[in-house]
Amino acid sequence: MNPQRKLLVVLVLLLTAVVAHAQATITKTSFGKTSADENVDLYTLRNVNGVEAKIANYGGIVVSLKVPDRNGKFDDVVLGFKDFEGYLKNDPYFGALIGRYGNRIAKGRFTLNGVEYKLAVNNGENHLHGGIKGFDKVVWTGSENKTKAGPAVVLTYLSKDGEEGYPGNLQVRVVYTLTNNNELKIDYSATTDKDTVINLTHHSYFNLAGEGNGDILNHLLTINANRFVPTDAGSIPTGELRSVAGTPFDFLKPTAIGARINQDDEQLKSGNGYDHTFVINGRPGTLRLAATASEPASGRVMQVWTTEPGVQFYTGNFLNGTLTGKSGKVYQRRFGFCLETQHFPDSPNHPSFPTTTLKKGATYKSTTIYKFSHKR
Ligand code: GAL
Repeated sequence: MNPQRKLLVVLVLLLTAVVAHAQATITKTSFGKTSADENVDLYTLRNVNGVEAKIANYGGIVVSLKVPDRNGKFDDVVLGFKDFEGYLKNDPYFGALIGRYGNRIAKGRFTLNGVEYKLAVNNGENHLHGGIKGFDKVVWTGSENKTKAGPAVVLTYLSKDGEEGYPGNLQVRVVYTLTNNNELKIDYSATTDKDTVINLTHHSYFNLAGEGNGDILNHLLTINANRFVPTDAGSIPTGELRSVAGTPFDFLKPTAIGARINQDDEQLKSGNGYDHTFVINGRPGTLRLAATASEPASGRVMQVWTTEPGVQFYTGNFLNGTLTGKSGKVYQRRFGFCLETQHFPDSPNHPSFPTTTLKKGATYKSTTIYKFSHKR
């Protein structure tokens, strides 16, 4: 081949690669079967920049999320298991959708319209993350949607009246969109035929250095919150909204997650580290910046935007080296952190907290965006 022709062939090949790369795609494959023989699908979403998310219709689990570092190297920045079997006993709630109620409800009890409801108790004497079989452990109905913003997967689930003790048939819809701006956008909505309570969230554990690549203590974190929600020994809010000023909970300026985590602080001790809701500044219901995390070595940055009043910052305190991740690396304590946008824990028992009651006929709506970029 003469040199000109060779150059032409190389150029054509390059161009084909660029065009293929620049197309947003969504594909569906089989992920496995539940013990009840239900088929579970895995959706692979890819945006025009090559960012890729794999999402299962079991638990709405984000199984992997590959984003570039400052040199264009892609790594999977969420913790997870190698195959579907790993998720069947997903104790840490890796990547899952959480419902009906994110975090704890004290003693699994609350009163609504004069009726006391008794929920499943699955965390000591308390109800956690929707109960024994929460939204993280059910098969959702999935469908693909190619939107202008990017590829999306739509998940719906009908939670029947009485499920895990909650009142009302709750029809839930969650849309994950992987936008061409490198955002994982989550739009939640729900309606009920009887007054109920609801607090949906998402439980990915992030490590911006890549899953399994060490702990997250060097990540720098900013949380746009002047106050946080102190808890008792059972991780139930005391009812106080406390100022972060002068405490290890002040993340108003970028601070390493590990800088103060071992301080002799009563809240850090009872939480085993950070495991607290922060009260996001600004007006709930409007999309505002809740937090920014960055990892110095890779340069990766993640912003969290939400319409929710709070964000639960959890530093993977209960990971203990007993789980092996998808690429074979053992997950030690604090190998991932969560930023779960939500209402405050135990709100049904705290009338002073923003309400989590969803009235019959009303529509619950909530949006959260995890936006990825990198520093030079
Ligand atoms: C978090 C919660 C922690 C722990 C964790 C799952 O959302 O705040 O206390 O339960 O989930 O291991």
